[in-house]
This record gives sequence, C-alpha cells and structure tokens, in this order.
Amino acid sequence: MKKRMFLDACALAVAALFSANVMAQANTFKIGLILPMTGQQASTGRQIEAAARLYMAQNGDTVAGKKIELIVKDDTTVPTVTKRLAQELVVNDKVNVLAGFGITPSALATAPIATQSKTPQVVMAAATSIITEASPYIVRTSFTLAQVSVALADWAPKNGIKTVVSLVSDYGPGIDAEKYFKERLALNGAQVIESLRVPMRNPDFAPFLQKVRDLKPDALFVFVPSGAGAAVMKQFLERGMDKAGIRLIATGDVTDDDQLNDMGDGALGVVTSHHYSAAHPSAVNKKFVAAFEKANPGMRPNFMAVGGYDGMRVIYEALRITKGVGGGDALVAAMKGQIFESPRGPMYIDAQTRDVVQNVYLRKVEKVDGKLYNVEFDVIKDVKDPGKTK
Ligand code: DHB
Repeated sequence: MKKRMFLDACALAVAALFSANVMAQANTFKIGLILPMTGQQASTGRQIEAAARLYMAQNGDTVAGKKIELIVKDDTTVPTVTKRLAQELVVNDKVNVLAGFGITPSALATAPIATQSKTPQVVMAAATSIITEASPYIVRTSFTLAQVSVALADWAPKNGIKTVVSLVSDYGPGIDAEKYFKERLALNGAQVIESLRVPMRNPDFAPFLQKVRDLKPDALFVFVPSGAGAAVMKQFLERGMDKAGIRLIATGDVTDDDQLNDMGDGALGVVTSHHYSAAHPSAVNKKFVAAFEKANPGMRPNFMAVGGYDGMRVIYEALRITKGVGGGDALVAAMKGQIFESPRGPMYIDAQTRDVVQNVYLRKVEKVDGKLYNVEFDVIKDVKDPGKTK
C-alpha cells in the first residue's frame, strides 16, 4: 500500500514537472540571435548583442504574457555555419524568430529555412538589396547600400567632384554600392572612371590605392564592411592620397563609429552618407548612446547596434500586437508597416517590401568634445531602397 502511494506520488510529481515544462515552453518566446561573434566581422556581433541586451534591459523581458528568451549563437562569419545554426534553432530550440545576420551571404543562406519553417527572419545588419526578396519571412532593420550610395552621388557633383574611382568589397553590398553610385553619378553629369573591387576576406588595399593614385580622380568612393574602414583610412593617408588632391568619400561603413575615434585627425573632413551616426542630434539618440555607453564601457554604438536595437523593437511590438498567440505569418504581418522613432531618426518597415524606409544623412568627420564623430549636415528624408527588382 505504501509502495503504491509512493508510486502515485512519483507519477504526480513527474506529471507536474512535465506540465510545468510545457507551460514554460508555452509561456516563452524565443529569439535565436545568430551573429558573427568571432572572425572578421566580430565587431558587428559585439555591437548587435550589446544593443539587443540593452533593449531588453530597458523594456523588460515579458511581453504579452510571454517571457522573452534570447539565444545567442556565433556563426564565426561563415555562412554555412549560419545556416546550420538556424536549422538547429528552429528544429531543436523551436525559436519563434530568427534574428541577426552580420553579412549578406549569412542572411541569404538562412532564407530557405525561414521560408520552409515559416519563421520570421529579422535582418539586423546585412545590407544587399536582394536579401528581402529571398524569403517572404525576411524583415530588415539595417539599411541598403543602394539607399545610402545614391545620396552621396547626388552630393558629389555639386561639390566639385567630376571624376571618381570606386573601390568596393567584392560581394553583394559592394557590388550594389558600386552600381547605384555609378548610375546616379552619371545621371548627375559626373563619371566613375574606374571601378575596383577588393576581396571580401583579408583585403590588401595597397595595390588598389596605388592604381587610384595613378588615375588621379577628384575623389575615391569606398565601401568596405564594418570593421575594415580603419585599414582603408590608414593606407589612404599613408600613401598621401589626400595630399595628391584625391578626396575620400564613402558610405558610413568606412567611418564606422566603432572605430572612428581611433582613426586619427587624418579622417577629419571625410564626407560620407549613412542612416546612422552616434552624433545624431535627437533626444532619443542621446538617451540611446548614453545608456549604451554606460552598459558597455569603452564602446560607442555604431549603425550595427542601432539595427539590432530597432530589430528588437520590431519583434517586441509584433509580439504585443499578436497578443502572444501569433505564429510566423501573424508575426511578419505585425512587423509590416511598423513606424517609430529610432535613434537614427524616423523609420518604418515598408509593408510591401518588408524593408526599412529611413532618412539618409550626409555627414562630415569633425571633432566634438575632442573626439571624432560623423556630424550630419544634410538629410534626404524617407528614402526607400532604390535597389528593389520588383
Ligand atoms: C554588410 C556587412 C557590413 O559589415 C556592412 O557594413 C554592410 C553590409 C553585408 O554583408 O551585407
């Protein structure tokens, strides 16, 4: 009799444990955040993880009765690893949302998994136009190279630049930057006289810069991914390109806030176009930068951080709108059309394309309180991605 009671008690305990587990599952909302935490793009991972954690610290970890669980995975900047991790997160961890994606090939490699499993894929970093067309479950909170390059191609000819050599990383975002800059510049009556491409992995800029020196254009237009800008700046200055009368103009990836203050005074005066500067003079941004720097001593938030922060906002809001009961389709529907003030300025998720529409700023490197910043001097409002094929 005693044994029977004991067994019953055991069964009850197991059942209770089991249902607690099921309840915990049902009451949890899992975000699988796949980032390059090591490898060439490690700074992107560091920035986005810090921003995502800041967003959660500021906004709580419970939304619509669900506890948010952030699962961070390091894809080591290798797209096949991104894909495998996404698969594991969907199948084993049963994540509700996939997020992160430091480089274009990682975002593209994951797209079929998002489609097959109907899991929203929030792209917080990668910036080739085509990405949002790779799956109807992709929503982007970063930017596109087409979006920011066009603004610079409008600015340059009005500021004495008639001939340009372009120098880009030889993969998706670089090829977009090259194409959209060149086409727009020609439309404005100026010319790209030579288009150079450097390898994405471990680039050596020296031979390319020598070529630029020989060609002697009015300006050199550069795109390299986040983290590679300091090397370009260093070699540009070491070769005395500025003294030879060649201006450096670039997308904001080059004067990346993560590295800018260490680039030295040689960076002063460099004009770039981008969607985010840590010096953006809004109350929302000042609050964001102060909180980020307090939580992460020694770090300044860059455009990757803001893509991660806003990506979390889009996910939280979608969960709130769907009252915690929506699957992938309902969540994506709730992400479409979200409009809000980001630290970058106003932005919204285009309901048709699921891509970000935002202001693009022209900025110049200046000293503010003894530190180098991208100081905004002009704005083109509500820019849609010009790079959509449909
Ligand atoms: C991409 C990566 C970057 O680091 C960046 O600054 C822009 C684009 C990309 O791979 O899409």
